[in-house]
Amino acid sequence: MQIKSADFVTSSTDWRKCPETQKPEFAFIGRSNVGKSSLINMLVDRKKLAKTSSTPGKTQTANHFLVNNSWYLVDLPGYGYASASRSARFEWGKMIEQYLKNRKNLFCTFILLDSRLKPQAIDLDFITWMGKQNLPMAILLTKSDKLKQQELAKSKKIIEAKLLEQWEELPPLFVTSAEKKSGRDKVLDFISNAIEGINRDYPG
Ligand code: GTP
Ligand code: MG
Repeated sequence: MQIKSADFVTSSTDWRKCPETQKPEFAFIGRSNVGKSSLINMLVDRKKLAKTSSTPGKTQTANHFLVNNSWYLVDLPGYGYASASRSARFEWGKMIEQYLKNRKNLFCTFILLDSRLKPQAIDLDFITWMGKQNLPMAILLTKSDKLKQQELAKSKKIIEAKLLEQWEELPPLFVTSAEKKSGRDKVLDFISNAIEGINRDYPG
């Protein structure tokens, strides 16, 4: 898929304030600093569309970006931000849970995991929660440029094995690097197939 345009639309602190739309949307979630905002920029080929930072906790709201005037990417705040207060974490949880459960045009949520780390309890809990809610998801392994091929293959296996302890089937899994722009075509193909699927199911 070619990216012709990508525009910031809104920042929302409440799912009910997200743009009213029937257009399909794809959300990015994962621990603080895992690379959600960087990956969005890489996918749309715009360096500074979503704000990134080496300090965790940069993205604090749900940020909608309209791509090719026809679908949305949504940058979400990270979970597991250690310095956040307990009440901030609680508010985060409530906001994200409601967004994920209620957002009718949310076609798929990408869960980002750092390719260098074994899956963390907080990630596995989140994946389990998504599965129990029957919410469509895909896994993206980030920062793959930091690993050698062999290490990456090993890391991928460990993550898959951990998921297979709980699930019979693995969600789609993509290996990415915002730095090297790798995984871009595969993720964009996945999105474009998903959108075509919607148009096939609901013509017009
Ligand atoms: P929060 O908004 O705080 O939840 O973080 P985030 O998940 O949006 O992470 P962000 O994209 O801001 O990136 C965090 C840090 O990781 C930044 O210093 C990025 O430059 C770095 N980073 C992101 N993606 C990659 C990658 O693919 N490779 C490398 N080497 N660094 C990356
Ligand atoms: Mg961010």
